[in-house]
Amino acid sequence: MGLGKPDNCLLVIFGGTGDLARRKLYPALYNLFVDDFLPDALQIVAVGRRFFTREGFHNEIVLPSLKAFSRRASNPDGHFASFIGRVHYFQADLYDQGGYTRLRQFIEELEEKSGCQGNRIFYLAVAPEHFGPVVRSLKETGLVPARGWQRVVIEKPFGHDLPSAAELNRQLRAAFSEEEIYRIDHYLGKEMIQNIMVIRFANTFFEPVWNNKYIDHVQITSAETVGVEDRGGYYDRAGALRDMVQNHLLQLVTLVAMEPPASLATEAIRDEKVKVLRSLQPLDAAAVSKNAIRGQYGAGEIDGQVVPPYRQEKEVAPDSTTETFVALKLFIENFRWAGVPFYLRTGKRLPVKVTEIILQFKSLPDILYFKEYGELRPNLLVIRVQPLEGVYVQLNAKRPGNNNYIVPIRLDFCQNCEVGVNSPEAYERLLYDVMRGDPTLFTRWDEVEAAWRFVDPIAAAWTARPPLFPNYAAGQWGPPAARELLIRDGRHWWQEDELLPERG
Ligand code: BG6
Repeated sequence: MGLGKPDNCLLVIFGGTGDLARRKLYPALYNLFVDDFLPDALQIVAVGRRFFTREGFHNEIVLPSLKAFSRRASNPDGHFASFIGRVHYFQADLYDQGGYTRLRQFIEELEEKSGCQGNRIFYLAVAPEHFGPVVRSLKETGLVPARGWQRVVIEKPFGHDLPSAAELNRQLRAAFSEEEIYRIDHYLGKEMIQNIMVIRFANTFFEPVWNNKYIDHVQITSAETVGVEDRGGYYDRAGALRDMVQNHLLQLVTLVAMEPPASLATEAIRDEKVKVLRSLQPLDAAAVSKNAIRGQYGAGEIDGQVVPPYRQEKEVAPDSTTETFVALKLFIENFRWAGVPFYLRTGKRLPVKVTEIILQFKSLPDILYFKEYGELRPNLLVIRVQPLEGVYVQLNAKRPGNNNYIVPIRLDFCQNCEVGVNSPEAYERLLYDVMRGDPTLFTRWDEVEAAWRFVDPIAAAWTARPPLFPNYAAGQWGPPAARELLIRDGRHWWQEDELLPERG
């Protein structure tokens, strides 16, 4: 990363024994530690309800989490022993004021001993209904304001709709300023997503053609093969629109569509992103029924394994009308993008795990190269976010030989195809940025607000018209209507198998 070491500070993780902490936070902190990006005096205090001795917490929670989820699962250099020297456990109930008072004493002593300089980060890795109460208790028991700087990190979902998001924001603002609030959208921490601005604004090739004169349409796909795993309770209330579109997918839209910022300063970038969200053409009920497709998976097969329907997942209502798939066609009403459709799709239990952004360029007039030489394919710029990371351009070229056949070729850069390339996890970058005090890769309140403003009418139109679910079998690319959304425009989704060249 090469951006230098952050200030010394203390990181408090509420939900310190939970899923997020184990899957993402400890592995990310460990990798940052191994790469020497953590502040020298950093102390990590995990707060949880269960009883653990410090050693028990290290052995039962932290160590297994690193073994299971760190991209450096082994421990050849003995980093683990020095890493856990910074990790503490504090038992407290989120709703017991006495617990916060004791936590405050604990933290103050630790700050005294370690040289953390009174800088504090509070990471709320807990269910969203606890965000407000925790923040209120932090303030009431004097954990904030901190002696040095203070920051709070909030996981999604940021509200369920605009009113609930605004209420949550009000609760946070009672103790933290906007600049101190870090709203996580982990997609922004992904390597290739950070790369979008570089690709766009550091290459002469692209910027001149990055507009409605040359681009036919944009496709953004984020597909998963997994179902809802053990998050059925949350997911059944959220659905794919709130879980993926309101945040991750619309953030990708902003990065693809934004104007060049006046500088690389955080607020300059966010200003451009929010303009895109504000320029989204709102979908009224009629547009929703035409351009917003929802689906829910039934039983099917993934990788040859039979999987149950969504309605039989744990903690999901047997007659659930929650969508596990969304496809959307949207327009950005500004000079650059007027008339260019953005097609978005995301879903669970789709055939492959893949996130990619495809810009399809307009076709040339079919004058010089006639059908007899082969079919002219459109030029594509494909940004692969995961699992492969890279970017490629599809061009037409002459096939070698004594004929004039035209075939598509690719200029392909694959960042993680080579053995040994192990990109940092999104959470590494995000935690590092919180410590450095750089909120660029986090969402500002007005972005969240504008995204809900776009999404709420879609959710409302859907609630008003109960769907016929399930409407796709697990292992398919969503319901047939998702395909028709493009076919009726004379286009089609670029499917994964069509796009990926052979590997290895
Ligand atoms: C999360 C959603 O934000 O993103 C999950 O809540 C989803 O439902 C996940 O599975 C996908 O993240 P990734 O990084 O695997 O694409």
